[in-house]
Amino acid sequence: MAISSSPRSSLSLLRHNAALALLLWSVGAGLSWWWSYNTHQQRVLELAKVEAATNINKDWSFRLWATSHGGVYVPPDEKTPPNPYLANLPDRDIITENGKRLTLMNPAYVLRQIMQGYSDLYGVKGHITSLNLTNPVNEPDAWEVAALKSFKLGVKEAVTVADIDGKPYLRMIRPILMEKGCLKCHANIGIKVGEIRGGISTAIPMEPLYAAFKPDFQGASLIHSMFWLLGVGAIVFMAWRAKREADEIDRYQGEINHLNRDLEQRVAARTGDLEAANQELEAFSFSVSHDLRAPLRAIDGFSRILLDDYTDKLDEEGMRLLNEVRDNAGRMEQLIDDMLKFSRAGRVEIFFSEIDMEKLAREVVQELQPAVGDGKLQVEIDAIPPAKGDRAMLHQVFFNLLSNAIKFSRTKETPRIKLGCSIEGDEAVYFVRDNGVGFDMQYAGKLFGVFQRLHGVDEFEGTGIGLAIVKRIVTRHGGRVWADGQVNGGATFYFTLPVKGAAQR
Ligand code: HEC
Repeated sequence: MAISSSPRSSLSLLRHNAALALLLWSVGAGLSWWWSYNTHQQRVLELAKVEAATNINKDWSFRLWATSHGGVYVPPDEKTPPNPYLANLPDRDIITENGKRLTLMNPAYVLRQIMQGYSDLYGVKGHITSLNLTNPVNEPDAWEVAALKSFKLGVKEAVTVADIDGKPYLRMIRPILMEKGCLKCHANIGIKVGEIRGGISTAIPMEPLYAAFKPDFQGASLIHSMFWLLGVGAIVFMAWRAKREADEIDRYQGEINHLNRDLEQRVAARTGDLEAANQELEAFSFSVSHDLRAPLRAIDGFSRILLDDYTDKLDEEGMRLLNEVRDNAGRMEQLIDDMLKFSRAGRVEIFFSEIDMEKLAREVVQELQPAVGDGKLQVEIDAIPPAKGDRAMLHQVFFNLLSNAIKFSRTKETPRIKLGCSIEGDEAVYFVRDNGVGFDMQYAGKLFGVFQRLHGVDEFEGTGIGLAIVKRIVTRHGGRVWADGQVNGGATFYFTLPVKGAAQR
């Protein structure tokens, strides 16, 4: 008899759940770590952007300053030769009153030199560029070309992170517009004041920023791994404990199963013994009853012959004694019949079916109508729910109980019988109540015994087998019987049937 699910399946469920918990926890921790990583990355980017914007702003201010002076004069040298692209200007190269030579530097030229120094010193790169080139040195690269084109569509800024010489940089480019001052040198390319002339592009090295945020990020990573480990530990611990409990349950289960098997074996053995003994007994009583019949018939038969053929030879007393012999032989035959009936009630196989108990009760009352006699008897039948059982046997139960009730109440002025049923838990409790002569509760235990009688034969007929048969049938249906009563206060006989499913035996 298996009471719980198999231990192996519960173990695999446990494993499955633990694995699932680990997976969920790890995914959760991973997501959180990833989120924190991203946040840090975002911070670095924001900072780099601020730095880039600062650079571009300063760059632009320098250019505006240089433009406001129409360019700047410096003494030419090897690094700063006169700009060939300014050759068309009349005053590119001048000589001061005391003979000093000066050459004009346009803003792009100045800033190129400054940015060269800046890049060498600090790694920050920057230059001016345009789709309308004067000097190929200012040529935009592919990314810048795309950005410059997008500016014409209204975009105000382009940002990207890219590797330059194998190191990460934040690149930013913003458009620059034509100012009045620019026209001095750029009037010829046909771009009007306020229109886009090109862009200032800068690249900020990310490494220092990454380095600045590294401790933060490392701290977050450490906390994440610690929490993750803690969670893993907790899950493993809980799984371990659950496994231990499951093992314990399995062990008990095993013990219970073992005990159950043992018990079942013992019950089977005892039942076998009992059945064998019962069968022997039945066979015995059956053959005894049968064998007793023939001599009884003989006694009865010969007594009758004596009475019929020897009337003249017998006196009054002889006749009376012979009649007594016949009466007793008759009673004995009745006893034998009842014994056979009783043993049949134990032997016959039960055929379970759905039975309308109320209808069955009414049928039995109908059958017993002749026994009721003068019509003083009132029979009341409550609503009775259907039951599962052997129709013929339950018919016998109602028959015996009702005929008893009729028998023991017929001496009353107004005999009354009531039949009913109530459902109590998983039992249907049926009762048959009469207001007859009742019985002394002292003998309640004897009522259902074989050939037990509480009243004299001369008072009420019968051998006392009816209730024993009722008990046998009800017990075989898995129910119980009992009775309630008092002398001259009526009696109530109860029997139960299991409500759910068919009862066994
Ligand atoms: C003094 C003359 C002068 C002034 C003023 C001047 N530029 Fe230039 N600019 C040049 C020359 C010459 C070049 C090309 C040679 C070089 O790169 O040095 C140039 C290059 C550029 C370039 C790079 C693309 C290209 O044509 O090679 C841009 C963009 C630019 N200037 C925009 C401006 C803007 C905007 C202003 C006004 C705020 C301005 N310039 C003011 C002379 C000038």
